[in-house]
Amino acid sequence: MESRIFLIGFMGSGKTTQGSALARKLGYRFVDMDRLIEERAGMSIPEIFSEQGEEAFRKWECDLLMELCRIDCLVVSTGGGAPCHDDMIGIMNEHGCTIYLRLSPRALRERLVHSKTERPLLGDRTEDELLDFIEKLLAEREAYYLKARYTVDGTNLQTDRLVRLIREDL
Ligand code: S3P
Repeated sequence: MESRIFLIGFMGSGKTTQGSALARKLGYRFVDMDRLIEERAGMSIPEIFSEQGEEAFRKWECDLLMELCRIDCLVVSTGGGAPCHDDMIGIMNEHGCTIYLRLSPRALRERLVHSKTERPLLGDRTEDELLDFIEKLLAEREAYYLKARYTVDGTNLQTDRLVRLIREDL
């Protein structure tokens, strides 16, 4: 079985929820990249974006990924933008099994409007504007997300589906 599992996908696709459940089922350690970056930076993601800028946040992601690629028996939930810069998707594919949790723009909006997590990229948009934003950004990002080893439908996803996928993976 692959020693490192990376869950990738758009904001709100369920990477953190699925990742922690998956790690528990596999007996693997779980790391949520955003939470670990916040801990280390001593500030929240919105604060990193406003005080250090997005570039600095992307550097945090890159450095952390290199470190995680040296740890075994690990499930990682990545930030939505992580696979889309500095060939991070290539690095993840080299060091583990990548799974893209795919949802439609409407399903993502539904989740994001009800989410309590503050996401600096989303800003203060109406629901119509939010859908438009998701459609555009997802269209750009799918080129990276679809490089994952597996793409799974993220709607009503049961964690056991991921467990089976990983166990049967050769
Ligand atoms: C981002 C997604 C967020 C977080 C940051 C930037 C993105 O993570 O890393 O706000 O660029 O899509 P989630 O996907 O966990 O919301």
